Amino acid sequence: MNDRVELSKGLALKKMEKFKFGLEKDKGFTYHHGIRVGKLALKLKNIIGIKDNLDELIEVGGIFHDIGKGSEPHNEFGAQITKEILKDLYSEDELNIIYDIVFYHNQRKKGNFPYYIKIIQDADMIDHYGVTGLWLDFSRVKDNGFSLNEFLEINDSEDNIQFHNNKVDLLNYDFSKKELETRIEIQRNIAKLFKRESCGDLLIDDFKNMGAIFNESL
Ligand SMILES: [Fe+2]
Repeated sequence: MNDRVELSKGLALKKMEKFKFGLEKDKGFTYHHGIRVGKLALKLKNIIGIKDNLDELIEVGGIFHDIGKGSEPHNEFGAQITKEILKDLYSEDELNIIYDIVFYHNQRKKGNFPYYIKIIQDADMIDHYGVTGLWLDFSRVKDNGFSLNEFLEINDSEDNIQFHNNKVDLLNYDFSKKELETRIEIQRNIAKLFKRESCGDLLIDDFKNMGAIFNESL
Protein backbone atom coordinates (compact mmCIF):
# COMPACT_ATOMS: atom_id res chain seq x y z
CA MET A 1 0.00 0.00 0.00
CA ASN A 2 1.40 3.36 -1.01
CA ASP A 3 1.67 5.76 1.93
CA ARG A 4 1.15 8.91 -0.10
CA VAL A 5 -2.07 7.53 -1.63
CA GLU A 6 -3.36 6.60 1.82
CA LEU A 7 -2.43 10.04 3.18
CA SER A 8 -4.12 11.66 0.17
CA LYS A 9 -7.29 9.66 0.81
CA GLY A 10 -7.31 10.87 4.40
CA LEU A 11 -6.93 14.49 3.29
CA ALA A 12 -9.67 14.09 0.66
CA LEU A 13 -12.02 12.55 3.22
CA LYS A 14 -11.34 15.34 5.69
CA LYS A 15 -12.26 17.92 3.08
CA MET A 16 -15.22 16.02 1.64
CA GLU A 17 -16.73 15.21 5.03
CA LYS A 18 -17.74 18.85 5.00
CA PHE A 19 -19.99 18.00 2.05
CA LYS A 20 -22.42 16.73 4.67
CA PHE A 21 -23.05 20.38 5.32
CA GLY A 22 -22.28 21.93 1.95
CA LEU A 23 -23.98 19.28 -0.16
CA GLU A 24 -26.68 17.94 2.09
CA LYS A 25 -27.60 14.91 0.03
CA ASP A 26 -24.05 13.74 -0.62
CA LYS A 27 -23.64 11.41 2.38
CA GLY A 28 -20.13 10.40 1.35
CA PHE A 29 -21.04 9.62 -2.25
CA THR A 30 -18.50 12.03 -3.76
CA TYR A 31 -15.62 10.69 -1.66
CA HIS A 32 -16.33 7.05 -2.52
CA HIS A 33 -17.04 7.99 -6.15
CA GLY A 34 -13.54 9.53 -6.25
CA ILE A 35 -11.98 6.36 -4.83
CA ARG A 36 -13.81 4.26 -7.46
CA VAL A 37 -12.86 6.61 -10.30
CA GLY A 38 -9.17 6.33 -9.34
CA LYS A 39 -9.40 2.52 -9.40
CA LEU A 40 -11.43 2.38 -12.62
CA ALA A 41 -8.97 4.71 -14.36
CA LEU A 42 -6.05 2.41 -13.52
CA LYS A 43 -7.99 -0.57 -14.87
CA LEU A 44 -8.67 1.33 -18.10
CA LYS A 45 -4.98 2.24 -18.32
CA ASN A 46 -4.07 -1.42 -17.97
CA ILE A 47 -6.49 -2.47 -20.71
CA ILE A 48 -5.33 0.31 -23.02
CA GLY A 49 -1.81 -1.01 -22.40
CA ILE A 50 0.02 2.11 -21.28
CA LYS A 51 3.05 1.52 -19.08
CA ASP A 52 4.62 4.39 -17.17
CA ASN A 53 5.10 5.47 -13.58
CA LEU A 54 2.06 7.74 -13.29
CA ASP A 55 -0.31 5.27 -11.56
CA GLU A 56 -0.12 6.98 -8.19
CA LEU A 57 -0.81 10.44 -9.61
CA ILE A 58 -3.71 9.13 -11.70
CA GLU A 59 -5.27 7.42 -8.69
CA VAL A 60 -4.92 10.54 -6.55
CA GLY A 61 -6.29 12.68 -9.40
CA GLY A 62 -9.31 10.36 -9.45
CA ILE A 63 -9.79 10.63 -5.70
CA PHE A 64 -9.69 14.43 -5.84
CA HIS A 65 -11.44 15.10 -9.16
CA ASP A 66 -14.75 16.23 -7.60
CA ILE A 67 -13.37 17.86 -4.46
CA GLY A 68 -14.57 21.26 -5.71
CA LYS A 69 -18.22 20.09 -5.93
CA GLY A 70 -20.54 22.74 -4.61
CA SER A 71 -18.34 25.64 -5.80
CA GLU A 72 -18.80 25.96 -9.54
CA PRO A 73 -16.98 25.65 -11.82
CA HIS A 74 -16.02 22.78 -9.53
CA ASN A 75 -13.20 21.57 -11.78
CA GLU A 76 -11.38 24.91 -11.54
CA PHE A 77 -11.97 25.42 -7.84
CA GLY A 78 -11.20 21.76 -7.18
CA ALA A 79 -7.90 21.89 -9.07
CA GLN A 80 -6.77 24.89 -7.03
CA ILE A 81 -7.61 23.45 -3.64
CA THR A 82 -6.19 20.05 -4.56
CA LYS A 83 -2.80 21.67 -5.18
CA GLU A 84 -3.01 23.40 -1.84
CA ILE A 85 -4.12 20.30 0.09
CA LEU A 86 -1.42 18.05 -1.41
CA LYS A 87 1.46 20.53 -1.46
CA ASP A 88 3.44 18.76 1.30
CA LEU A 89 3.09 15.32 -0.29
CA TYR A 90 3.96 15.89 -3.94
CA SER A 91 6.54 17.76 -5.98
CA GLU A 92 5.60 20.70 -8.21
CA ASP A 93 5.73 18.50 -11.32
CA GLU A 94 3.58 15.83 -9.69
CA LEU A 95 1.11 18.44 -8.44
CA ASN A 96 0.80 19.85 -11.96
CA ILE A 97 -0.31 16.46 -13.30
CA ILE A 98 -2.86 16.01 -10.51
CA TYR A 99 -4.03 19.60 -11.06
CA ASP A 100 -4.57 18.95 -14.79
CA ILE A 101 -6.54 15.77 -14.07
CA VAL A 102 -8.88 17.63 -11.72
CA PHE A 103 -9.13 20.71 -13.95
CA TYR A 104 -9.95 18.86 -17.18
CA HIS A 105 -11.93 15.88 -15.84
CA ASN A 106 -15.24 17.30 -17.08
CA GLN A 107 -13.94 18.98 -20.25
CA ARG A 108 -14.70 15.98 -22.46
CA LYS A 109 -13.96 16.42 -26.17
CA LYS A 110 -12.81 20.01 -25.55
CA GLY A 111 -9.14 19.45 -26.26
CA ASN A 112 -6.41 17.05 -27.17
CA PHE A 113 -5.71 15.77 -23.68
CA PRO A 114 -3.02 13.36 -22.51
CA TYR A 115 -4.20 9.81 -21.82
CA TYR A 116 -4.17 10.22 -18.02
CA ILE A 117 -6.87 12.90 -18.28
CA LYS A 118 -8.90 10.92 -20.82
CA ILE A 119 -9.04 7.77 -18.66
CA ILE A 120 -10.25 9.82 -15.69
CA GLN A 121 -12.93 11.44 -17.90
CA ASP A 122 -14.10 7.97 -18.98
CA ALA A 123 -13.91 6.43 -15.50
CA ASP A 124 -15.90 9.34 -14.08
CA MET A 125 -18.73 8.77 -16.55
CA ILE A 126 -18.70 4.98 -16.18
CA ASP A 127 -19.03 5.24 -12.40
CA HIS A 128 -22.42 6.93 -12.77
CA TYR A 129 -23.91 3.90 -14.53
CA GLY A 130 -24.86 0.29 -13.87
CA VAL A 131 -26.46 -0.59 -10.55
CA THR A 132 -24.90 2.60 -9.16
CA GLY A 133 -26.86 4.44 -11.85
CA LEU A 134 -30.07 2.89 -10.58
CA TRP A 135 -29.17 3.84 -7.04
CA LEU A 136 -28.60 7.42 -8.22
CA ASP A 137 -31.91 7.36 -10.12
CA PHE A 138 -33.76 6.14 -7.04
CA SER A 139 -32.10 8.84 -4.93
CA ARG A 140 -33.26 11.49 -7.40
CA VAL A 141 -36.75 10.00 -7.40
CA LYS A 142 -36.86 10.32 -3.64
CA ASP A 143 -35.45 13.84 -3.67
CA ASN A 144 -37.99 14.97 -6.29
CA GLY A 145 -40.95 13.17 -4.77
CA PHE A 146 -41.78 11.11 -7.88
CA SER A 147 -43.97 8.04 -7.55
CA LEU A 148 -42.82 4.60 -8.71
CA ASN A 149 -44.95 4.84 -11.86
CA GLU A 150 -43.74 8.35 -12.64
CA PHE A 151 -40.15 7.12 -12.39
CA LEU A 152 -40.83 4.21 -14.75
CA GLU A 153 -42.50 6.51 -17.24
CA ILE A 154 -39.62 9.00 -17.22
CA ASN A 155 -37.07 6.19 -17.36
CA ASP A 156 -38.75 4.69 -20.43
CA SER A 157 -39.09 7.96 -22.33
CA GLU A 158 -37.26 8.46 -25.63
CA ASP A 159 -35.61 11.61 -24.28
CA ASN A 160 -34.16 9.72 -21.35
CA ILE A 161 -32.91 6.85 -23.50
CA GLN A 162 -31.31 9.31 -25.94
CA PHE A 163 -29.78 11.33 -23.09
CA HIS A 164 -27.93 8.28 -21.79
CA ASN A 165 -26.97 6.95 -25.23
CA ASN A 166 -25.39 10.33 -26.02
CA LYS A 167 -23.03 9.89 -23.07
CA VAL A 168 -21.35 7.00 -24.87
CA ASP A 169 -20.15 9.35 -27.63
CA LEU A 170 -18.41 11.53 -25.04
CA LEU A 171 -16.00 8.78 -24.03
CA ASN A 172 -12.45 8.57 -25.34
CA TYR A 173 -11.72 4.86 -25.65
CA ASP A 174 -13.56 1.97 -27.32
CA PHE A 175 -13.26 -0.19 -24.22
CA SER A 176 -14.77 2.58 -22.08
CA LYS A 177 -17.65 2.87 -24.55
CA LYS A 178 -18.32 -0.86 -24.36
CA GLU A 179 -18.23 -0.78 -20.55
CA LEU A 180 -20.64 2.17 -20.48
CA GLU A 181 -22.98 0.50 -22.98
CA THR A 182 -22.94 -2.63 -20.84
CA ARG A 183 -23.77 -0.67 -17.71
CA ILE A 184 -26.59 1.20 -19.48
CA GLU A 185 -27.96 -2.17 -20.66
CA ILE A 186 -27.78 -3.63 -17.14
CA GLN A 187 -29.65 -0.58 -15.86
CA ARG A 188 -32.37 -0.91 -18.51
CA ASN A 189 -32.79 -4.63 -17.90
CA ILE A 190 -33.23 -4.13 -14.18
CA ALA A 191 -35.71 -1.34 -14.94
CA LYS A 192 -37.63 -3.86 -17.07
CA LEU A 193 -37.87 -6.19 -14.08
CA PHE A 194 -38.98 -3.25 -12.00
CA LYS A 195 -41.68 -2.46 -14.55
CA ARG A 196 -42.88 -6.05 -14.43
CA GLU A 197 -43.07 -5.91 -10.65
CA SER A 198 -44.98 -2.64 -10.88
CA CYS A 199 -47.68 -4.46 -12.91
CA GLY A 200 -48.05 -7.09 -10.18
CA ASP A 201 -46.36 -9.81 -12.24
CA LEU A 202 -44.67 -12.85 -10.73
CA LEU A 203 -40.97 -13.12 -11.51
CA ILE A 204 -40.17 -16.63 -10.26
CA ASP A 205 -40.51 -18.43 -13.58
CA ASP A 206 -38.83 -15.68 -15.52
CA PHE A 207 -35.94 -15.65 -13.10
CA LYS A 208 -35.11 -19.16 -14.22
CA ASN A 209 -34.69 -17.77 -17.69
CA MET A 210 -33.23 -14.32 -17.26
CA GLY A 211 -32.57 -14.07 -20.97
CA ALA A 212 -36.32 -14.18 -21.61
CA ILE A 213 -36.87 -11.26 -19.29
CA PHE A 214 -34.01 -9.25 -20.67
CA ASN A 215 -34.88 -9.81 -24.31
CA GLU A 216 -38.59 -9.31 -24.07
CA SER A 217 -39.79 -5.84 -24.87
CA LEU A 218 -42.29 -4.83 -22.26
FE1 LIG B 1 -17.17 12.78 -10.83
